[in-house]
Amino acid sequence: MNRHWIIRLLAGLALVFVAGTANAQTNWDRTKMVGPDKCGECHKASVEAWKGTHHFKTFTAMPRAKAAREIAGKMGIKRIKSDGLCVDCHFTSVGGDDKPVAGISCESCHSPGKDWMKLHSGYSGKKKETESKSEAAARWAKSVKAGMLRPDNTYAIAKNCYNCHVVPQEKLVNTGGHPAGSPFELVSWSQGEVRHNVWWNGGKGNPEADQNRKRMLFVIGQAVELETALRAVGNATVNDKYAVAMAKRASNAAKRFSALAGKVSTPETKAIVAALGGVKLSLNQKKALNATANKIAKQAKAISAKYDGSKFGAIDPFIPGSKAYKGKPAR
Ligand code: HEC
Ligand code: HEC
Ligand code: HEC
Ligand code: HEC
Repeated sequence: MNRHWIIRLLAGLALVFVAGTANAQTNWDRTKMVGPDKCGECHKASVEAWKGTHHFKTFTAMPRAKAAREIAGKMGIKRIKSDGLCVDCHFTSVGGDDKPVAGISCESCHSPGKDWMKLHSGYSGKKKETESKSEAAARWAKSVKAGMLRPDNTYAIAKNCYNCHVVPQEKLVNTGGHPAGSPFELVSWSQGEVRHNVWWNGGKGNPEADQNRKRMLFVIGQAVELETALRAVGNATVNDKYAVAMAKRASNAAKRFSALAGKVSTPETKAIVAALGGVKLSLNQKKALNATANKIAKQAKAISAKYDGSKFGAIDPFIPGSKAYKGKPAR
């Protein structure tokens, strides 16, 4: 029934591309994880917010689910909680131990803390009040160099969500029957239950991202959706569920991004649309699709570094409102 999807797509679509450095799907180095209890020694309110999320609950809920046992069975996996394939996206295991301690936790999103945890919070060995501005800047730069994923790097934040929320493993989908990913969108999926803006305002509530921030999340989220979907199509080798789901995803993302670029016209959004020209959504196109995805990544990173959203007002009507937020935020 779905057999000709890819072919039709090929005939009907003139997709577009962008270029950049290799940016393959990477999973975190589990040997460098310290676990959420450590973060919670200082970030109590963030931990409280996290406890209300599916990311927290998946730790106990997923392995017990009938669907999980079915997927594992079809994949020939005996222990879901220690099999790397499931652990990478569903759990946190400290120091690489094969007994996970939590679901998707702080370090799943801010990166494993071993090399940066002391650094980011140490005020350069001084007291908060005596650390100079330049020392603070150097501390943050060092923390990032040591791997910390900070909220101001919108591209990296978005890419990290998509590394899990689009499932790029063909066999896991076709043979295992695992979903091919989530109908993810960065504003609506980050402003609901996942929201934990509870640190910088000293615990006085959990405000939504402001409008400029939402614009950045939205535009970059759509670019990363496109990038990730193209890479996922690149992993397709057989005309089956996985290939069809990912080709649809990429095709829709391309259309949406082109519409968006009609509203937010920057050199970067234009370059993304231009990069889509000539893209073929067909099987066994890994090299070409990764090349296009790399171009898109490069432009999305540039958007993340260069803009603050204040000039992107024309896309406001596209940005999902609070009714679309996924789950309820803490507080
Ligand atoms: C010893 C206390 C302490 C621990 C443990 C700790 N943090 Fe922090 N964290 C801080 C402090 C203090 C700041 C703010 C530093 C400042 O004011 O410049 C901070 C800031 C942050 C920020 C905000 C960065 C930004 O750019 O806005 C994030 C994200 C963060 N920490 C994540 C974590 C994670 C994840 C862990 C566990 C791996 C962790 N922290 C462990 C004290 C800590
Ligand atoms: C690339 C990341 C990724 C991998 C690898 C992965 N999952 Fe998932 N899984 C997800 C995401 C994302 C969802 C949520 C999909 C959605 O939004 O509906 C999910 C949902 C599920 C669900 C349905 C929701 C639930 O908790 O009941 C089950 C069951 C599940 N995964 C089991 C597994 C098992 C077992 C493995 C290992 C064989 C595995 N997953 C590997 C990302 C992944
Ligand atoms: C699903 C991914 C995810 C998880 C899990 C996660 N964070 Fe975050 N965190 C983010 C994102 C995204 C932001 C930035 C939100 C924004 O700027 O709009 C953020 C922001 C923060 C901030 C700055 C908040 C502020 O007041 O502005 C701190 C501190 C932080 N996280 C710590 C933690 C800690 C500690 C944990 C574990 C309890 C954690 N995070 C779990 C993704 C995550
Ligand atoms: C390490 C993998 C991973 C990362 C990184 C990740 N997620 Fe998830 N997320 C999952 C999985 C797996 C589920 C499904 C959990 C379940 O229900 O069992 C999920 C569920 C969710 C849900 C609940 C969806 C529902 O059905 O109600 C939201 C919202 C969400 N994620 C948002 C985000 C956002 C926003 C980011 C990035 C800031 C992010 N996630 C990063 C793996 C991840």
